[in-house]
Amino acid sequence: MADLSVNFGGIKAPNPFWLASAPPTNSGYQVMKAFDAGWGGAVWKTLGVPVVNVSSRYGGVNYKDKRLIGLNNIELITDRPLKDNLREIEEVKKRFPNHAVIASLMVETKEQWEQIVRDSENAGADGIELNFGCPHGMCERGMGSAVGQEPKVLETITRWVTDVAKVPVIVKLTPNISDITVPAQAAVSGNADAISLINTIQSIVGVDIDNFVPYPIVDGKSTNGGYCGPAVKPIALNMLKNCAQHANVNIPISGIGGIETWRDAVEFILLGAGSVQVCTAVMHYGFGIIREMLYGLDEYMDSKGFETIDSMIGKALPNVLNWEELNLNYKVVASIEDEKCIGCQLCYTACEDGAHQAIALPIAENGERVPTIIEENCVGCNLCSLVCPVEECITMERRDDESKKQITWQERTKKGTIPNTFNDQRGGGVGHYIPSPADALKKNEKYKIKRGKN
Ligand SMILES: Cc1cc2nc3c(=O)[nH]c(=O)nc-3n(C[C@H](O)[C@H](O)[C@H](O)COP(=O)(O)O)c2cc1C
Ligand code: SF4
Ligand code: SF4
Repeated sequence: MADLSVNFGGIKAPNPFWLASAPPTNSGYQVMKAFDAGWGGAVWKTLGVPVVNVSSRYGGVNYKDKRLIGLNNIELITDRPLKDNLREIEEVKKRFPNHAVIASLMVETKEQWEQIVRDSENAGADGIELNFGCPHGMCERGMGSAVGQEPKVLETITRWVTDVAKVPVIVKLTPNISDITVPAQAAVSGNADAISLINTIQSIVGVDIDNFVPYPIVDGKSTNGGYCGPAVKPIALNMLKNCAQHANVNIPISGIGGIETWRDAVEFILLGAGSVQVCTAVMHYGFGIIREMLYGLDEYMDSKGFETIDSMIGKALPNVLNWEELNLNYKVVASIEDEKCIGCQLCYTACEDGAHQAIALPIAENGERVPTIIEENCVGCNLCSLVCPVEECITMERRDDESKKQITWQERTKKGTIPNTFNDQRGGGVGHYIPSPADALKKNEKYKIKRGKN
């Protein structure tokens, strides 16, 4: 059995699964219930001068039969008095001394920051997270993402906190910025012990087309909110990778954004996260999802021979290169396993209209149309395998000469063999099959291969 415990920038926890600062960490009742279920840590709902919230507050994105692939909120930080939150933090720490309780904070002045850091430490918080991410409401008041988008201000406030804090300080970053490594480096300059990312993405999730108002609706009006949930995971993973690979961002990273299963968590850890934080999945399915997460992570680590979380962190990073460093000689083509094919023709349509006209639909003797790959036209883009509804029915098979040395764009640039004029014959598409435009209008008999009995 693997050791799931973590020491994240000086904050110890029995496992890397933490609740993100959000409604599930609004109270001691919820955090105790979560710890009891198996969560290793919790970042308390952001503390500060209590706010007044609106109702309603959330908008959802459903995709076909899947509800809430994305969640949007216009909620602010805690609306509860600070003393109530601090008393409950103290109570949770007494009952769960080995779990991580992190106080998320957002205030305005230097004096307020110093005071609230002291108060949180006195209540027993194991760490402090600075919320520089909230993209609605608080930013209009000069806090949240308004700080996260200004590296100089972020560095100054981080330093106010790190100068007085006795416990580790995590800076939580906003994704609402073009290069997240800039505020990440500012956090390092401000002496942060760690960073966490991402907070929510500024968004409008939809519009009520009968009443002409976006969601969520507050008395007939709306505003932009913060987007999270499974839909944001790819954005979070990329930002995590950018920070984890950056030479100047040499502090631990807590990964956040769309994590719902142990597999999601593993992906974040492999791209450099030392702990993971979860919000939407718990709001959707409750604290109980931790059982599957713990079991799955443990099984995965055993199957791969990882004894500790530390030994997994960043394992995928060496395999993430710049585009110009990829091997241009590597070639794959699609291959269809006839026995698995259900004849839906989705691959044909996708390749015909959206890719490279590399799938034929010959009519078999029994009258059925069975898709067939025309290898010489296939550029190996993957599209057909992505649209095929049958698992492993279309696979990509390697076709290049593996003994041939790899060649990258970088190397070709150095050798001077890259295309550099408009009609350059060294362009990648030269020699690829392209049907004549008029073929689009007439029935193309060319690929009607007879199948079945010959
Ligand atoms: C309703 C709601 C309230 C949130 N409140 C806070 C907050 O007070 N402080 C904070 O740092 N992040 C807050 N977040 C952001 C989450 O902590 C997290 O960064 C984000 O939801 C991405 O994670 P997820 O995809 O697992 O939800 C909130 C998110 C939601 C949905
Ligand atoms: S991999 Fe791309 S080009 Fe090849 S058959 Fe599939 S969709 Fe067409
Ligand atoms: S998408 Fe898959 S199942 Fe559908 S026709 Fe193509 S190969 Fe067959």
